[in-house]
Amino acid sequence: MIGAGNVGFHLGKALSLLPNADIIQVYSRTKKKAQNSAQNIDCQYTTKIKNIKTDADLYIIAVNDAAIGTVAEALSTLPYLQEKLVVHTSGATPSTVLSPYLSRIGIFYPLQTFSIQKEPNFKTIPFCLDAVNEKDFLLLENLAQQLSTRTARIDDAQRAVLHVAAVFVNNFTNYLYTVGADITEKGGVPFDLLKPLIAETAEKIRENAPRDMQTGPAVRGDEATIVRHLDFLEGSGYEGVYSFLTEGIGKLKR
Ligand SMILES: NC(=O)c1ccc[n+]([C@@H]2O[C@H](COP(=O)([O-])OP(=O)(O)OC[C@H]3O[C@@H](n4cnc5c(N)ncnc54)[C@H](OP(=O)(O)O)[C@@H]3O)[C@@H](O)[C@H]2O)c1
Repeated sequence: MIGAGNVGFHLGKALSLLPNADIIQVYSRTKKKAQNSAQNIDCQYTTKIKNIKTDADLYIIAVNDAAIGTVAEALSTLPYLQEKLVVHTSGATPSTVLSPYLSRIGIFYPLQTFSIQKEPNFKTIPFCLDAVNEKDFLLLENLAQQLSTRTARIDDAQRAVLHVAAVFVNNFTNYLYTVGADITEKGGVPFDLLKPLIAETAEKIRENAPRDMQTGPAVRGDEATIVRHLDFLEGSGYEGVYSFLTEGIGKLKR
């Protein structure tokens, strides 16, 4: 497992628990991170690419998107690596960052948000997979199917679509939770009171189109409330985001 961050830490552990898979080594630049993940997985670690073991069947690159190409280039100089299957775990990065350096390449992208502190439930995480060779694809599919109930073959163009959409439904909504938490904290009201609302919003779109579930002053065209909110937000720094989103929601009006 190359990378001991949010994804490497959890994916490495989950793979190591499969009956027919074994993580033999973890690589991370920082000793503490490499050590921590290797301890969690119960395997060896290294902080040097040149010391990465060359007898694995699969190399999973789970490093920052900007470093995937550099890491692939460094891996390609190791003996036997040209014969090995090398994949990355990114939704944002095309597989073509690997192709200048390696030939048996693929994608092993778990479409979920990972944080080291939070144990993920891999069974529910869709795995978006791809590989240049059919045999390699089947190997990745077999591995992913042991971890999860949902796998799909997704090419670079489809993955780009999913990743942009994921930024909206996850990163941007989480930022809005942060704004909500800041507003409640400054107003001296517990943020906790909003948690059932957050949960119900996510729950409703399991069975319904998000567009049909939109509520609130913007979709109702309730101008008086919008003006009151903007007055409340004056000087907070959040007026811009409020107005921008209100305008977008206003265009959904049925
Ligand atoms: N987090 C998510 O929710 C999520 C979900 C799906 C897919 N992904 C993808 O999975 C990959 C890893 O994400 P992450 O969240 O696990 O990242 P992360 O927690 O920031 O961990 C990044 C890892 O990359 C290593 N690294 C960073 N720059 C490097 C460089 N120049 N050379 C070598 N190693 C380098 C870090 O090593 P040191 O820290 O030891 O230096 C660390 O082991 C990314 O491609 C990301 O798009 C992330």
